[in-house]
Amino acid sequence: MNNNMDRLVIRGKKRLSGNVLISGAKNAAVAVIPAAIMADDVCVIDNLPYIEDVKCLYTTINKMGAECVYSDKHTLKIDSSSNVSTTVTFDEVRKMRASYYLLGALLARFKRAEVTMPGGCNFGTRPIDLHLKGFRALGAEVDVQGEVVCVRADKLKGASIYMDTVSVGATINIMLAATMAEGVTTIENAAKEPHIVDVANFLNMMGAKIKGAGTDVIKIVGVDRLHGAEYTIIPDQIEAGTYMIAAAITGGRVKVCNIIPKHMDSLSAKLLEIGIGIEEGDDFITVDATESDFKATSIRTMAYPGFPTDLQPQIAALLSVCGGTSMITENVWEKRYQYIDELKRLGAKITVEGRVAIIEGVKELTGASVEATDLRAGAAMIIAALNARGETVIGEVKYIDRGYEEVESKFSALGADIRRVSV
Ligand code: EPZ
Repeated sequence: MNNNMDRLVIRGKKRLSGNVLISGAKNAAVAVIPAAIMADDVCVIDNLPYIEDVKCLYTTINKMGAECVYSDKHTLKIDSSSNVSTTVTFDEVRKMRASYYLLGALLARFKRAEVTMPGGCNFGTRPIDLHLKGFRALGAEVDVQGEVVCVRADKLKGASIYMDTVSVGATINIMLAATMAEGVTTIENAAKEPHIVDVANFLNMMGAKIKGAGTDVIKIVGVDRLHGAEYTIIPDQIEAGTYMIAAAITGGRVKVCNIIPKHMDSLSAKLLEIGIGIEEGDDFITVDATESDFKATSIRTMAYPGFPTDLQPQIAALLSVCGGTSMITENVWEKRYQYIDELKRLGAKITVEGRVAIIEGVKELTGASVEATDLRAGAAMIIAALNARGETVIGEVKYIDRGYEEVESKFSALGADIRRVSV
């Protein structure tokens, strides 16, 4: 059982080797689970990652009156046939950003919802104006009362919606709400992440009529009701990328299994540029850095299929020990460099100017005490610690547990000297 004061203690310089099995995608799971309550029926969702964000949604949905049970660690059975509360202001809601999907799901089925404004990682302001603009376009009244977002509609009517900014959350939330609106909705300039396709596939298995997910135009023909379905979540692109980068920084050779290699294209291309061997199979990628000399490169984070912002801290840790000067431009979030100060405590030489980080590669990092400032920053601390000479202690591991299943067991099975210490 993980607790909030846990720390990870890592002794670096061990080459990783062997196979790692990737869990289901967090960012698909946190959208598919809310979508399940749109059916007045039973849904079974499989290949869920056993992580804090999913457990938090499990608690929330039970408090809403649906019957949600773990059939096993990776499978939830959700029965929403009874009446489900449309007021969701429990403490759990503040713990994660994806709580906002409950707005779209409840608005679709019950034509009303009151949900506390979401929490989640702090990368500066994280508005939800595009979500609310989409709900209004479908005919809903939106009212923010303090920190509770209230939406309601006599009926929802299909509309043509152009997204000012490419937004994963807003694309999914509008898709949820439009699924049971009258008539046709088109979402233009839609985000194309793999988890958006996963949510659309799940909704279609429940009887929705959605086409074009994964492209920048999604078309939804509204239906009156959704029935239950059984669904298996896709593998986690970001967890997979985290282990690929960790294998690289240790000069190891690791087979990252149970993935969709296509989802990793932007990272694989960058690792090849750095001089790391990549071998692709149907459902795995083998990263081989045993002979690599790590050349500097530049990274620009973009919406999918560009380089994912959620791998930006992790690749920064690797670039810290690549020969030469590397550059990262963070184009998605206004402030996603809070972890840089922690990396510098490990000996990284990085300067940040606005959205650009300039990284002077060093020969190796040195162990120190650091903190995870958010979920992916925590992953970056593990990656850096695996390279660092000596011992590194990582605090605030609760952030890492939000998105990485059994992180210390998976890393120690690859040969890392890593242990969890409960304070
Ligand atoms: C999702 O966040 C992910 N979270 C994030 O992953 C990820 O970083 C992000 O997509 C981009 O890929 C989940 O899926 C739960 P956005 P989301 O809406 O949907 C602006 C992780 O580590 N924007 O695509 O909140 C926003 O400020 C997390 O797993 C608006 O201006 O991201 C940002 O600059 C961290 N108004 C940009 O769009 C809005 O209404 C992209 O945000 C919504 C977003």
